[in-house]
Amino acid sequence: MIVIGSDHGGLELKSAIISYLNRRGIEIADAGTDNGDSVDYPDFGLKVAEKVAAGGAESGILICGTGIGMSIAANKVPGIRAALVTDVFMARMAKEHNNANILVLGGRVLDEQIACDLVGAWLDASFEGGRHQGRLNKIGEIERKYCITFCK
Ligand code: RB5
Repeated sequence: MIVIGSDHGGLELKSAIISYLNRRGIEIADAGTDNGDSVDYPDFGLKVAEKVAAGGAESGILICGTGIGMSIAANKVPGIRAALVTDVFMARMAKEHNNANILVLGGRVLDEQIACDLVGAWLDASFEGGRHQGRLNKIGEIERKYCITFCK
């Protein structure tokens, strides 16, 4: 199951991505936002990131205007590897090399078709492990070094 969330800047693209995931038969949970009212992207970034980190969803998708705020917010949650991508190569690498468990998109910078292609490239790719796992382990060490509430 994929949990998907956006702020008002990503709402329209969120609907397009949900339709794409439905067409692919992928189960989704919509974490909001539900209307065009101005909201704060960290609230939705946190909701989605916590669900993924807790194992309540296999992975997540976050969308704000540029994708920048959502990626900054989601990456504060230990265990989250949120990747902001703008082309298919980045989307594939986000899985193959970084094992990104959240894909982040910019609703105000991406065409809907391209955004669906990015989601597809990320979903269809597989983590390569090996030397890349060693690098992810080092990211885990950084989290443990600085994490106070959850890790100590
Ligand atoms: C909201 O106006 C906008 O700042 C937000 O969607 C996002 O782009 C932040 O990074």
